Amino acid sequence: MASTISAEPTRRDFLYVATGAAGAVGAALAAWPFIDQMNPTSAVLALSSIEVDLSPVQEGQQIVVMWRSKPVFVRRRSKKEIAEVRSVPLSDLIDPLARNANLAETAPATDENREVKPEWLVVVGICTHLGCIPLFNQGNFGGYLCPCHGSQYDAAGRVRKGPAPENLYVPPYAFLNDTKIKIG
Ligand code: FES
Repeated sequence: MASTISAEPTRRDFLYVATGAAGAVGAALAAWPFIDQMNPTSAVLALSSIEVDLSPVQEGQQIVVMWRSKPVFVRRRSKKEIAEVRSVPLSDLIDPLARNANLAETAPATDENREVKPEWLVVVGICTHLGCIPLFNQGNFGGYLCPCHGSQYDAAGRVRKGPAPENLYVPPYAFLNDTKIKIG
């Protein structure tokens, strides 16, 4: 089931936790118009960087935060999910590039190149086909399903079934400590 939790009182970005497949569908389908409504102030739009508290996120869960008007998925992956994405040969990937702002543009799309710490996946939650928001824990690759035209991504945010041409974008981010990251 999906549930709504409060963001830090000093932060206005939108935050929710989604767990499990069934609940995630409704939450994700509702997310885009809701995010638009929740995004009214120029102050929020102008934020070039945000800090995200990871402590509420349990293994197998994901939160969505807003960064530069975009939803960003912050997903805490299980050991099984990490092992699965690391077992995928690069030759199976549609997009061979990591698309990770923290690395060189030519970095290959290994799972290691898609993260800063293996447990955490941080990606811009916008499908690289035409911009819909992929659904958490849907599809056949343990990651995301885009409801618009059926693209699928794995738990590393790598596109595994088109028409999306590229992996989900990894934004610039860094860990400030074990439970906090700074995006941007
Ligand atoms: S927008 Fe995602 S598959 Fe078309």
